[in-house]
Amino acid sequence: MKLVEKTKISAAALALLSLSALSAGFLEATPAFAKDTAQRPAVLNASAVAVADKYAADAAEQIFKEGGNAVDAAVAIAFSLAVTYPEAGNIGGGGFMTLYVNGKPYFLDYRERAPLAATRTMYLDDKGNVIEGKSLYGYDAVGVPGTVEGMWEAQKRFGKLQWKQVLAPAIKYARDGFVVDEQLAKRREAAEKDFAGKTNFDEYFGNLKEGVTFKQPDLANVLTRIANQGAKDFYDGKTADLIAASMKGHGLITKRDLQEYKAVWRQPVEAKWNGYEIITAPPPSSGGVGLVQLLKMKAMLAPQFKDVPLNSPQYIHLISEIEKRVFADRAQYLGDPDFYKVPVAQLTDDAYLAKRAAEVDPDKPSDTKSVQPGLGTSMPEKAETTHFSVVDKWGNAVSNTYTINGYFGSGVVVPGAGIVLNDEMDDFASKPGVPNMFGVVGSDANAIQPKKRPLSSMTPTILTKDGKVALVIGTPGGSRIFTSIFQVINNNYDFDMPLKDAVAAMRFHHQLLPPNTIFWEPYQPIDGELAKQVEAKGYVLKGQNFNGDIQAIRINGDTPDAVSDPRGRGVSRLIQ
Ligand code: DON
Repeated sequence: MKLVEKTKISAAALALLSLSALSAGFLEATPAFAKDTAQRPAVLNASAVAVADKYAADAAEQIFKEGGNAVDAAVAIAFSLAVTYPEAGNIGGGGFMTLYVNGKPYFLDYRERAPLAATRTMYLDDKGNVIEGKSLYGYDAVGVPGTVEGMWEAQKRFGKLQWKQVLAPAIKYARDGFVVDEQLAKRREAAEKDFAGKTNFDEYFGNLKEGVTFKQPDLANVLTRIANQGAKDFYDGKTADLIAASMKGHGLITKRDLQEYKAVWRQPVEAKWNGYEIITAPPPSSGGVGLVQLLKMKAMLAPQFKDVPLNSPQYIHLISEIEKRVFADRAQYLGDPDFYKVPVAQLTDDAYLAKRAAEVDPDKPSDTKSVQPGLGTSMPEKAETTHFSVVDKWGNAVSNTYTINGYFGSGVVVPGAGIVLNDEMDDFASKPGVPNMFGVVGSDANAIQPKKRPLSSMTPTILTKDGKVALVIGTPGGSRIFTSIFQVINNNYDFDMPLKDAVAAMRFHHQLLPPNTIFWEPYQPIDGELAKQVEAKGYVLKGQNFNGDIQAIRINGDTPDAVSDPRGRGVSRLIQ
């Protein structure tokens, strides 16, 4: 998937990003914990899911009927989508899980890591220029996958069912097959063109055609081994051997990389907003910090937004002004917190954001060069994705976004295993100031280092009120992820739109660079008179082929309202 063509950016823009930053090691050990198996009374009249396809919804339904909780259902969904939504669902990638279990927030980081042999300049030629496509296609693009370890950790800590039970639906879909829908078939066709002559993608997915039952016997064997042996098979067993063998002579990942992979329980980003507690993704995601900055700055600018109609030219302008500042901070300060001290507290601090919000020009776009990272250069402290949302009737919630980056990742399928490997290495800044697939740039904070996690925008989010889950939300979309979630939350809460309409409404996106450019989507284009008025304000309008696939659940009283984005093939369902 190419959202944005890679382009060179101006020297002026480069100067914005040339500030050096500090790096430090902040490794956190995975804590040992005892499983909380206490049965609590139901507080909702149904469990609910909003997921990327109907097979995953069926898997979740089966798990709830067997007595599983939201975490069991989430893990079953993740493995199912690895089979039936192979363009983004995965075991060859990584992701983030935000949880609210028994009244407490948690966050699990199972993002891919750079291989031990990775180097800062691995995607540059001898003149120091980025080699086109090297971080996107083929073995060189692959980060060490984290999904299996993530699911294992989450289920071991919070699940109620047997591990084997949550893998059963996925194994069945892989062994017996599933019927391919139109969207998947089209995405395969597009990917086939991108990967032609570069990877072995066709050997595994050449026969995937609309309306046909598609079976994945190698993947069924892998999932069966994982069901029997746990995550160990993937990281230190036969599957690890198959992955390492496929890399030999082609890529950097070795068996040692797999053996040393660890998912990390982190403190989620938490913030108060509008009477709600926001629980969202911390670094190595930029999304949680970005979402909190967006929501708080918009609330602080209430006088400027007063009487401004939703998605009017003035609304689009004000939101873009806020987004400009968020993306200036993202490019400078966000990276893997195990390698780089990310100033999360300062970036989400009310006084800081009030100062940033006050810089918003209500009349015209601020000059892009004048919008610098807001904390200055010396830091005060030393330093194709899919989302699903799940709640169970006991009031627990899981918001999970995971990815192999572009559709079908790197296009490499592990021979003998049928695992599609990610191209997550493209989320690093291959070179300061040079945009990645999503057109975003980065600096030292997001430079490549062995074992480091590339900066993400994935933003699995939960809102609670008075200790109870109020909203579970997330989406794919790269750098569009947190601006999409922001807009849906605005539509739903600030404009009182029912969740279904809030999700369907037009979305747009601005990310500082390219200068004063607003991206619009085919589903609800900015065109006609609206386009003319936005352009008259000084913006350039640019179409993009994708703007998210929101999966959201809002709780009204004791009843969930689950919504899947009409832009995708998602299914939402209440389950008794
Ligand atoms: O982690 C990230 O931000 C990206 N790798 C996510 C990719 C994505 O959302 C693809 N979906 N369109």
